[in-house]
This record gives sequence, C-alpha cells and structure tokens, in this order.
Amino acid sequence: MSEKFSVLQCIRCGATYEATEVRYRCDCGDLLEVAHDLERLRFAFPDMRKRFAARAGSTQFPYASGVWRFHEMILPDLPMADIVSKPEGNTNLYRTAKLSRAFQTDRLYLKHEGENPTLSFKDRGMTTGVSWAKHLGMKIVACASTGDTSAAMAAYAAQVDDLRGVVFLPHNKISPEQLAQAIAYGAVTLALDTDFDGCMRLVQQVAERYPIYLLNSMNSLRIEGQKSIGLESIAQLGWRVPDWFVIPVGNAGNISALGKGLREAYALGVIDRLPRIAAIQAQAADPFFRSYQTGFTERIFVTAEPTLASAIRIGAPVSHDKAAKVVAEFDGVVEEVTEAELMDAKALADRCGVAVCPNSGVALAGLRKLRAQKIIEDEQTVVAIMTAHGLKFSQVGVDYHTGAMSALPPHHVNAPLVLPADMAAIVDALQLENGR
Ligand code: F0G
Repeated sequence: MSEKFSVLQCIRCGATYEATEVRYRCDCGDLLEVAHDLERLRFAFPDMRKRFAARAGSTQFPYASGVWRFHEMILPDLPMADIVSKPEGNTNLYRTAKLSRAFQTDRLYLKHEGENPTLSFKDRGMTTGVSWAKHLGMKIVACASTGDTSAAMAAYAAQVDDLRGVVFLPHNKISPEQLAQAIAYGAVTLALDTDFDGCMRLVQQVAERYPIYLLNSMNSLRIEGQKSIGLESIAQLGWRVPDWFVIPVGNAGNISALGKGLREAYALGVIDRLPRIAAIQAQAADPFFRSYQTGFTERIFVTAEPTLASAIRIGAPVSHDKAAKVVAEFDGVVEEVTEAELMDAKALADRCGVAVCPNSGVALAGLRKLRAQKIIEDEQTVVAIMTAHGLKFSQVGVDYHTGAMSALPPHHVNAPLVLPADMAAIVDALQLENGR
C-alpha cells in the first residue's frame, strides 16, 4: 500500500489504483470503492469515537460540517485547504409520540436529510466529490440526475473558482424546485429527451472521452461523504446502534454508503455492533426489489415507469452490486410499495410536522409494511432516512391534498377551504358555533 491512507479498489477482483487517478471502474469493468487502510487509521487516530464526539456542535471549519466531523473516516488524505463545505449535515433526528403512533413504531427516529443546504442528502456526497475535484484540479464536473444530485453538484461547484458544473437531466421529469436550483447556481443544464438511465449512459460516455469529472455515485469519493448519515444518526443516539435503518433505494449509492460507513465504523471500534438494513423501492421502478426476489442470483433491469417518487425512478441502478452486498452483510430485507402507500405515508409524516418528500414516503411506507409483517418488531429501534425535503416536491403535495390525484385514495387530505372574505363564512367553516 502507498503511504496514503486510501486507494481505489475493485469490489470484485480487488485490483487497486491511486485515489488521485480519475477513474470510476476497474480495468475488469467492475465498480470501485475507496479502501482505507483501517489498521493504519486505527493506529494513527486512536480512540476515534472520542475524537468524533468532541467535535459535536463545533462551529469551526471544517468540523462544523456533519461530514467533516468524521474526516479521518471520510477522506483522511484530503488536505483541509481543498475542502468545499457549506457546511452540511447535522440534520435533525426526530422522535415524537405522534410519529411513533402514526407509524406504530415506538422507537422510531426520522433522520431528516431534507434539512441539508440544498434540501437533500446529496450535499453530503457533493462536499466530498467537489472537494476531491478541487484537489485534482478538475475544471468541469458533471452528473446525470433525477434532480437532487444536480442541485447539490451545482451548488458546490458554484463555490469553487474556475469549476464548471454540467448537469444531464431527463427533460420534464424533475420537479420545478429541483430545476430551479441547478440553473440558479449556474450549472450548464442539459434537459435531454430521455429518462434518467439514458442520461446516465450519456454522461458516462462524455466523461470517458473528455476531461470531465463524473460526480454520480458511481464516483466512489462521493459515497465517502454519504457514509456520514449513518454515523451521525448513531452519534445522535448516544452512540447506540439502532436495530434497523430503513432507506429508499434508486441508483443504490446511498444504501451502499450507509453499509460501508457502518462496516468501517465497526472495524474501527467506533460502534460495537451492526444494525439490519431495510431497502425500499417504489413498485413503478423496482429492479433492486426484483433482483432481491431472485436471491440476487439474477440482476434484473426494468424500464422505470412514472412514479410520484420521481427521484428514484431508475431502472438500472449503477451501484446494484455494492447494494446487494450490503443487503447480504446486514441481514437486510428489500420491500416495495405502491403509489398510494408512499403518498399516504408521506402525508402522515407531514401531518406530524416533519415535511418529507415522496421518495422518503417510500421508506416510511416500507416501514409500515415491515411492521405489519412483524419483520420489524415492537421493541426495535428504527432510524428511517428521509432523503429530501417535502418542499422540493411541493406540487405533489398540493395535488394530493386538493384531490388532483383521483386515482389514489388519499387518507390524510387537507384541502384549502376557498371562502368569501367574510367573518360569518369563516365561523361557519370552522364550526365554531358548534363548540368545536
Ligand atoms: N431520495 C432522493 C430524494 C433522491 O434524490 C435519491 C436519488 C434517492 C432517494 C435514492 O438514492 O440513488 O443513492 O439510491 N437521487 C439521484 C439524483 C438519483 O440524481 O438526484 P440512491
């Protein structure tokens, strides 16, 4: 091993490459991951948990970030001077009696990644991805996106001199709020007449031929930042590991990051046991669920159908192999949910005062199913990862509550009451005379 702490390593054949090499796949064609020399890290930074715990609530760069608080476990070779941070992370972990009742899970925590600077968990990956791009002296970063990766990449690229962001978006398939972010932050925005999987193919082809740094989650440097979601949740629980993490799956980068972070934290003695992981997909775009049903003996691709969980409308998840490994290693389960189930679950969380996106609704609907099947048991502690803020998908919420989704049976509708500007009408509508 070089004197660096980290290299890129093939997840299948084990071949290694310098982490400073711009490459996303092994010569054998498989995915790479950042492999840290855990023995050396353990020796160089003894008592890592204490080190991380001491940085809680820091206001100092870069430790004010919920990602760089874990610097030694994220990118230990990255010089501080190259860190591009907003800062990100330090999102709330909600536990209320109302949420517990709504989801019939006493020890339920919602990790609200929608509270990141661009309103999704992608900021955690982009702080590492864009920092590494700066470290390498890249001039152009690019990604394909269902809307959140592009928003985050555009925002972080905009913080760096002479770094251009280029986003490949499926035309008319992302929300206006997501689009607004990419263009406002100045990224060159390509709205392409294809779906996400088509954008993903094209951005890879372009990045292969030109000096463009690809910042999709197949870039393993990004995964390193996203590891912090699990670590931060556990730190917030007083370093107690929950029984379950429940997470929505699209391109399968985030579940790969969650598993990698937990696996390494365990090896480094930062945590004392491993949780189980439940991966949830929307039925309209469920290749990972279908592959799971074959026991992962087959890899299944689908043409992803329209879903209200538009950020996970993906038929060929790039990080499938890493994610399948995580499911196996963490005694995981994979479930899928319908459009009605995901919207009702989202509305239920919203009604408890935690505004989540439809993609997060997928995780919550999956939780309800797994509770009903008693796979997740009564006394178990569950952290459900809410991946983006409800306000990034506000039209979906308005349509649900105003009855514009006639095909769905919305159980938690709260339509605005359109009234004359008149005291009597208001008193009548609020039924105040009836003692309510
Ligand atoms: N939730 C949200 C809000 C997302 O934006 C994504 C992915 C996911 C869940 C799934 O995470 O892909 O790592 O399994 N969005 C990507 C994007 C694809 O382009 O914004 P994953």
